Amino acid sequence: DSSSELESVSSSLSSCLSTSEIPSSPHSSNVIDKIKIEISKTLAKYCNSLTPGDAFSRLRFGKNGQDFVLSLAGLRALDPSAEESISLLLSQSPLICGISTVERRNEFIVFTCDTFYLAKEVLSQIYVQSSSSEGLPTYGFNSHGGGRKVIIEYSSPNIAKPFHLGHLRPTIIGAFLNNLYRSCGWNVTAMNYLGDWGTQFGMIAVGFEKYGSQAELERDPCHHLFKVYVKINADAETDPTIKMQAASYFKRMEDGDESALANWRIWRDHSVNRYKQDYATLNAHFDVYTGESTVGKEWQDKAIDRLETLNVITDVTGMKLVDMTQWGLRKAVLRKRDGTSIYLSRDIAEAVDRHENYAFDKMIYVVASQQDLHLAQFFKIIQLMEFDWSNRLQHINHGLVLDMSTRKGTVIFLDKIIETTSAFMHTLMKKRTEKYAKLENPGAVAQELALTAIKIQDLSAKRIKNYPYRQQRMEAYRGDRGPYLQYTYARLSSIRRRNEHLLPLDPSFLQLSYLCEPGVHRLLFLLGTLPHVIRTTQKNHQPCEVVTFCFRLSRAVMGLWKTLRVAGEPDLEKARARLWLFECTREVLGSAMRLLTLRPLERV
Ligand code: ARG
Repeated sequence: DSSSELESVSSSLSSCLSTSEIPSSPHSSNVIDKIKIEISKTLAKYCNSLTPGDAFSRLRFGKNGQDFVLSLAGLRALDPSAEESISLLLSQSPLICGISTVERRNEFIVFTCDTFYLAKEVLSQIYVQSSSSEGLPTYGFNSHGGGRKVIIEYSSPNIAKPFHLGHLRPTIIGAFLNNLYRSCGWNVTAMNYLGDWGTQFGMIAVGFEKYGSQAELERDPCHHLFKVYVKINADAETDPTIKMQAASYFKRMEDGDESALANWRIWRDHSVNRYKQDYATLNAHFDVYTGESTVGKEWQDKAIDRLETLNVITDVTGMKLVDMTQWGLRKAVLRKRDGTSIYLSRDIAEAVDRHENYAFDKMIYVVASQQDLHLAQFFKIIQLMEFDWSNRLQHINHGLVLDMSTRKGTVIFLDKIIETTSAFMHTLMKKRTEKYAKLENPGAVAQELALTAIKIQDLSAKRIKNYPYRQQRMEAYRGDRGPYLQYTYARLSSIRRRNEHLLPLDPSFLQLSYLCEPGVHRLLFLLGTLPHVIRTTQKNHQPCEVVTFCFRLSRAVMGLWKTLRVAGEPDLEKARARLWLFECTREVLGSAMRLLTLRPLERV
């Protein structure tokens, strides 16, 4: 039976590859892999020097809409006689399940799938896996995580500051990874590690005495505290006593002085409540809120003890410094002169605590590349402390949003951006009078379009890239912009609405041979690649891979609106087959969009 055969091929292949390359359980296997395995087997049969595993890893998706391509140059480097073997394969054109043609184009061998086969296999896989009841895999998802535990720490803003564009990146990248890991079968704890401790709270305390207002604090806590913070910092430039007052205030906080902690607690609560609203808007979720304030002393001290035995601690009149220059990681302060803790020492102790409480298999920190050195120092210290889990820590970094400076007053707050962008979207929506009239809640639609634009302009490039803040980036309308995805999704939804009379569709009676128009093949193949996209993304943590997938899919289906009419098609069987293709596309686009934290809109 073919499925058990596939299973044995998969498992023999996975023994020569990393298991992540080939799905080893038939449950997570997917059509595109199945075809790829078939091609690999054939290639290995013809080329002696090639194992099926080698062949599998050499097969690529074609850039110009070609299904699979194999580079001859690469093959030649491996085995000079491979060229002849390939010529033989081309002349004999052996049967490969799922493949209709194999041909040579310049330096590549191109394998083209059979459209009918794709339609049958891909669509039924989408159907089966999306309509399964809760708890079972959704199409494209996999069980690779096998229930392993991962902590994803993300967002982690310094509180008492309104949410600004700089916070946005670690938040949406993290929220995306949270979705992604869940979709790959990991047991995820999404954690927000608030920057709620440190000398800056001493500054705010001193500032609050001078500039604070209880009423304003209650109205808009983050903005108010931020204003106070900016003012007191400005004062501190001319008055050196302010920093000293702040430090001694913070010392009282660290010593547990209730009178110093009372105000801080109020600020913290207000800020966190405000953040929670922002997170709800952004569709970012957390299982746990912790913060620097809750980190215990024990492991901070033990870290210093341990590093002392390694002779890497220097005491500079009471200040403890760790010297990591031999590992290219410079020197870092671990404890200040007055004995108060520091960002780095808190991270160390917190990680130990998390390991004790969660016994994670992996812990991801989504933090800006600005802190690369900090994270590297922190990971190195965990390693020097000889924790056997030190290699389970991973820093997922990201670039910055440029052209923003707190001091120059050019910080852009998230609420402002959402407001401006939503207003812009709303104006555009109103121009489409007929559609606009049908919207139940146009304000919410405008906001979701705005959020989509904001998130997509951020997630479109590789994480590490910096980008400048420009409002035009949010409002750009042509090309690969967020709203385009929402339009595509809404259009697919409207096809469904307008053809309710053809529903429900019974896949076993559909005439898929009707799906033969040019353009359909491309769409089907793309639909088939989602499981692959998810697997790769889980390895490289690049949300832009999923963004690219969404745009490719949108463009592929856009070419079909006119040629693949459903409403008005006199042949009902044809109409049903087409509707099914669109429905499956809607399902897949929706699930990729949701991974990206977007909320797909039924109408725009
Ligand atoms: N609160 C820090 C900041 O805003 C980021 C915290 C990152 N996480 C960590 N475990 N160090 O800069």
